[in-house]
Amino acid sequence: MFKIAIDGPAGAGKSTIAKALAKTLNIEYIDTGAMYRAITLKALRKGIDLDDDNAYGFLDDTVLDIANGHVYMDGEDVSTAIRTVEVTENASAPARIAKVRTFLVDYQRKISESKSVVMDGRDIGTVVLPRAELKIYLDASVECRARRRMLEREQSGIFKSLEDTMNEITTRDFKDSTRKISPLKCAEDAIVVDSSKMSIDEVVNKIIFYVNERGLIK
Ligand code: DC
Repeated sequence: MFKIAIDGPAGAGKSTIAKALAKTLNIEYIDTGAMYRAITLKALRKGIDLDDDNAYGFLDDTVLDIANGHVYMDGEDVSTAIRTVEVTENASAPARIAKVRTFLVDYQRKISESKSVVMDGRDIGTVVLPRAELKIYLDASVECRARRRMLEREQSGIFKSLEDTMNEITTRDFKDSTRKISPLKCAEDAIVVDSSKMSIDEVVNKIIFYVNERGLIK
């Protein structure tokens, strides 16, 4: 059994790479960003003040489930609803709340206890799985990340300019890396991979090289 942690800023390609890697290695992929998005969606629907630590009591009766690449919140498949611009723009607020992080980190550790996983997020190598056998910090330039996000959105009919998307990404990077609890940062023992000029296959192959080098596949 082994764990691979993939951290990095928004739009660096973490989920695409993690998904492809999990498929190649035939192990489970766990998208932790989707969990923060699901909590954000519920908070928005409830109309709470997202910055109020005391407004997250609803977590006590929230049930999250990740199955077959779908995200379920209280039994509802929210896989599409968590990808809207509204959820994306608001997700960094709940991610700053200690109660939200504790709830999700506990859940993330629990679901990765008994199996090999590729888990992606911001704090996987530093907080969630500090003993992961392989830690990757996936980075890319702001412009490159913005272009990728635009393409991804265009597929669902959402159009935003390059400038707006770059601003959105810079703002989110700032919020994610300066928050008090579990800020986005590269773990000391992580391998930094800059994907700006690499194809998906090249990044996956590079990580597979490290998987083999560490003898993770028996
Ligand atoms: O990777 P993403 O865009 O789906 O992440 C959504 C939000 O959740 C983003 O603001 C960062 C936050 N997040 C986090 O704080 N910790 C994680 N492990 C994963 C995501």
